[in-house]
Amino acid sequence: MCGIFAYTGSKGSEAPDILLKGLISLEYRGYDSAGIFTPESGAVKTPGAVAELKKKIPKGFGGKSGIAHLRWATHGEPTEVNAHPHSDSTGEIWVVHNGIIENFKELKKKLEASGHRFVSDTDTEILAHLVEEHLKAEQNFEKAAIAALNDVRGTYGIALQYKGEPDKLIAARMGSPIVIGLGDGEHFIASDPSPILPHTKSVVFLEDGDVAVLTPEKHTIYKLDATKVKRDPTEIDWSAEEAQKSGYEHFMLKEIMEGPEVVENTLRGRLRADGGAKLGGLEFVAKELGQIERILITACGTAYYGGLVGEYMLEEFAGIPVEVELASEFRYRSPVLNQKTALIAISQSGETADTLEAIREGKRKGALTLGIVNAVGSTIARETDAGVYNHAGPEVSVASTKALVSQLTALALFTLFLGRQRALSPQKAAEIAAELRALPAKIQKVLDDREKIAVVAKKYAQARDFLFIGRKYNFPIALEGALKLKEVSYIHAEGYGAGEMKHGPIAMIDENFPSVAIATKNSVYDKMLSNIEQLKARKGPVIAIATEGDAEIAKTADDCIYVPPTIEMLEPILNVVPLQLFAYYFAKEKGYNVDRPRNLAKSVTVE
Ligand code: M6R
Repeated sequence: MCGIFAYTGSKGSEAPDILLKGLISLEYRGYDSAGIFTPESGAVKTPGAVAELKKKIPKGFGGKSGIAHLRWATHGEPTEVNAHPHSDSTGEIWVVHNGIIENFKELKKKLEASGHRFVSDTDTEILAHLVEEHLKAEQNFEKAAIAALNDVRGTYGIALQYKGEPDKLIAARMGSPIVIGLGDGEHFIASDPSPILPHTKSVVFLEDGDVAVLTPEKHTIYKLDATKVKRDPTEIDWSAEEAQKSGYEHFMLKEIMEGPEVVENTLRGRLRADGGAKLGGLEFVAKELGQIERILITACGTAYYGGLVGEYMLEEFAGIPVEVELASEFRYRSPVLNQKTALIAISQSGETADTLEAIREGKRKGALTLGIVNAVGSTIARETDAGVYNHAGPEVSVASTKALVSQLTALALFTLFLGRQRALSPQKAAEIAAELRALPAKIQKVLDDREKIAVVAKKYAQARDFLFIGRKYNFPIALEGALKLKEVSYIHAEGYGAGEMKHGPIAMIDENFPSVAIATKNSVYDKMLSNIEQLKARKGPVIAIATEGDAEIAKTADDCIYVPPTIEMLEPILNVVPLQLFAYYFAKEKGYNVDRPRNLAKSVTVE
């Protein structure tokens, strides 16, 4: 989810200025490294964001066209050498890329065998070398680019430039958005319309498999089989800020809406045909992992609730004892760990102070430390022995939503990985893998129904207290539902294991105290129905999260929010989405600053 901006025009030497201004409006997409290339002045790259890039650009750096990028690392640390643009071996062909090239290792091997030398750890660099290789045969930039794109597997949104034809840009899209700006004597390429809008409102959204060739005067779009295709321009009247949010009112909603894409990105290239998981970051500790006797998961906030779901998954399907502990507790007591313990930190930012210190404590005690981290190159990612990256893209809203969806998906993959090392049968693993693959479409169904959730949130918006209950895999999701509502709506909300309700919290229930009950069709469904009955007997209003087609529950609950069925282990990934939407619409109804809730920070780097 990095930012791309490219420009070709006939206005003198203005390209760098246009590109740098555009990059600033893309900073919300990535900010760990930045780079710019113009055929006239070459490339400048740096770790950090646009301010750092500006400092490094020498006087006289100019050009009529160029490509620029802001990176949110997926392969390789956020260093200067890994920053985009990347070039081929001749320095003639330059590329900026969003997405992941899945077969880059095999392509790299082949190209190295025929003499190509690579300088970065990125998957992106392969694209420039492939174009170089095809250019030798085709002697035509467009044809070479199309041929190169036919070689790769994975996702991409790219902008390509060739010094031999300096005013020409090539853009392509496969799973990662690319929009073309149609100006007067100038054309733009960007990963979203925000940097284009100050120049033109007329844009073309590329579709998957499109390759666009742009010069200042014209644009032509091809398919990957080199046939031409026509795409109608759209006039957009979004402000730059609306464009950053893809037209959504808040980042929180945009990030919830990214759920299906996030699951796909977390899974990409990681499910094996036999149902196991291929987790590159764990390969070199696979032997140690095969010998561990215990797992400790440590995290804070939403990530901690993700860890609690992980405990259910790992114990049931990998057969390893798991404990989950708040990092802020773990680091101050005397946890017993040894070489047979794997300590896993879960963190979106990779910078949470308590989680980091817990990992340091684990290391001191000799545990194998692992990270499930979203921010590549963050401190936790660097200090753990090995890990799994989420690939969820930057999360801007303070309330964590898509990161949790991704953490749960990564934990399911980790369960398959460890499970197949132990007693998980190939049949069961294949069943889980198939359900994982089906999740994006199911999440999309929940998202498509979001207006119904908005109506329910509005109906209860005057409530001052809320109870969230769930059992087994959905117990941590009840905790998360309550946390989400608290942090964005400033409403008192408690999450409870439904079985615990009668041990205290039920005393609070009356007609003014609504509950959200996660009661999807699973092994504890009947127990949840009884809990709902108990709430109703105290006149407590109940909103049920229920499985599609469950007419029974609608007879008891006041309101039902339906989700598609999946296997119990994966229910949290689906069931958390309506709770995120509920909290979002609730806060919106109250008129709060959803993306920046009071008293909270996105990254908690203090104790
Ligand atoms: O960056 P981390 O995942 O380590 O952050 C952990 C918590 O601070 C975070 O999940 C926090 O609870 C969120 N605001 C919840 O929405």
